[in-house]
Amino acid sequence: MCGIIGYVGKKQALPVLMEGLTNMEYRGYDSAGVCVSKEGLIRVRAQGNIGKLKEQLAQHNLQGTSGIGHTRWATHGIPDEGNAHPHLDCHGSVAIVHNGIIENYQELREELKAAGHTFDSQTDSEVLAHLIEVECEHGSGLTAIHRALKRVRGTYGLLVMMKDLPQTLFVARMGSPLVIGVGSQEHYVASDPSAILPYTRDMIFLDDGELAAVSVEGVGLMNLDQTPVNKQVERFMWEVEAAKKNGQAHFMLKEILEQPHVIENSTRGRIDLIGTRAVLGGLSEVQDRLQEIDRLIIVGCGSAYYAGLVGEYLFEELAGMPVEVELASEFRYRKPIISTRTAVLAISQSGETADTLEAIREAKRKHALTLGLVNVVGSSVARETDAGVYNHAGPEVGVASTKAFLSQLTILTLMSVYLGQLRGTLSERAAGEVLAALYEIPDQVETILHNRASIRDIALTYQDMTNCLFLGRKYQAPIAYESALKMKEVSYVHAEGYSCGEMKHGPIALIDKSFPSVVLCPEDSVFEKTRSSMEELRARGGKIIAVTTNPDLVSHLCEDMIVVPQTLECLQPLLTVIPMQLLAYEMALARNLDPDRPRNLAKSVTVE
Ligand code: F6R
Repeated sequence: MCGIIGYVGKKQALPVLMEGLTNMEYRGYDSAGVCVSKEGLIRVRAQGNIGKLKEQLAQHNLQGTSGIGHTRWATHGIPDEGNAHPHLDCHGSVAIVHNGIIENYQELREELKAAGHTFDSQTDSEVLAHLIEVECEHGSGLTAIHRALKRVRGTYGLLVMMKDLPQTLFVARMGSPLVIGVGSQEHYVASDPSAILPYTRDMIFLDDGELAAVSVEGVGLMNLDQTPVNKQVERFMWEVEAAKKNGQAHFMLKEILEQPHVIENSTRGRIDLIGTRAVLGGLSEVQDRLQEIDRLIIVGCGSAYYAGLVGEYLFEELAGMPVEVELASEFRYRKPIISTRTAVLAISQSGETADTLEAIREAKRKHALTLGLVNVVGSSVARETDAGVYNHAGPEVGVASTKAFLSQLTILTLMSVYLGQLRGTLSERAAGEVLAALYEIPDQVETILHNRASIRDIALTYQDMTNCLFLGRKYQAPIAYESALKMKEVSYVHAEGYSCGEMKHGPIALIDKSFPSVVLCPEDSVFEKTRSSMEELRARGGKIIAVTTNPDLVSHLCEDMIVVPQTLECLQPLLTVIPMQLLAYEMALARNLDPDRPRNLAKSVTVE
């Protein structure tokens, strides 16, 4: 995710900003920039890594004792220098760096353009600089920022400098973290404590709805209704490594725990205000072609492929669309029947997976409409497809995909609703039901995450197993495959994912008391059949870990149970997969393995 750094004090600001940006490199970024206040706001930005920014800085003289900096991980607008932060208003009087998403940026941008403002970037963030400039007519500083933020819908961690107030930094937080570091006659601002830990451990953590003016003299805090806020300075005792993982032991765990927030980010601004329509701006340009298509082919690898399999059920149920899901690595060796009325959707976290890219190129050669569901903005899949939707899941550092997978399921749901409405196969009422249930998912995920200790106990009970079967039916079958993949990757337990119905066609021969099965058995339309599969396992002495929404229905059939909240059948995968990620993680720990460093694996597979 993007990183913010700021400094005001007696030292030169630039070295502090550069060290802060370097300390946040682990978060992933595609461009970086700084702005220092001397006689005016001087800004330098570069596409690429901090090394590239340093090269640019060699041609400038950025002297000054206050400044702001940013590493950008693109969400709106490709990763290039023009879209890198800081952003300035028309007259270079306001500079901002921003983390988060401004949902209503398009309407604000149009309004500002009509009033004569010119925009230099494609970002949502730039509107903030212009809005603050406008509001400065009513008084600068916090007043202007406060008035500007009243007009904004979305999330922000915002750091602002004003030409007229060169020795003050202004900060505001809504849904995106910010911390103020307190030094002796100097202050720091960062989105991530690890950025400023080399300088100070004394920190003020902002809460949502808080604004502050930060100068050498002190910190003036207030909230959005302009009442002053008193806050304690806290002593932050984590070491840098722990701070990077948000205090968690591993990136994999940090990313699993982040998931409620990830679903919110993936849906933000993508459901209309009434809650009955999916709004996917990334598909609007190809809306006419989408109306014409008669078949959807989904391609992806690994977890992305399994997300596609869930997508198949979703698109068929909600959009009435014929769907096939293909392993991208096999797609090109076949002779896929593709016409101009076929859409090919590539799912890829990195957007750089070689097989997925080749599949898209094959589809293009055959004149299909190509779509991307990609996390990394500006990546090859995003560039080479005709249209698409970004995950907005933030950078995924853990090698085993967790939050990106959940975000893929979330967006596939939105895409199915969108297509269903476009094709007239989904009523407003039915769409509203799905979207309302989707809205509940972050809280439901949170309750599962609170259950981590009991999942750890299960991992400890089974830590010596050498084999394991994961079973599910209908929407849960792809979750069984994904769960087995997670278990294999990080714990090296041999795990197989099967649909329940297939079990009796072969794998059941493996079952005995040393070969446990994890059965995904929420109370859904196929529950009775799944229960029969459990009976079959038991009859052969197999141990069962049940993942259920209703303990009463299965407690007599299993040794261990993981309970998840009930939601609509089509959304249940978003909940059943969470304990499976935790189980794989806890199993890795129980077996003394580092889940962030699975052997033989790379985060992004850019070779065929
Ligand atoms: C599994 C995992 C991989 C990826 C696969 C595709 O935990 O991470 O199976 O899902 O390599 O990667 P992307 O989504 O980057 O195309």
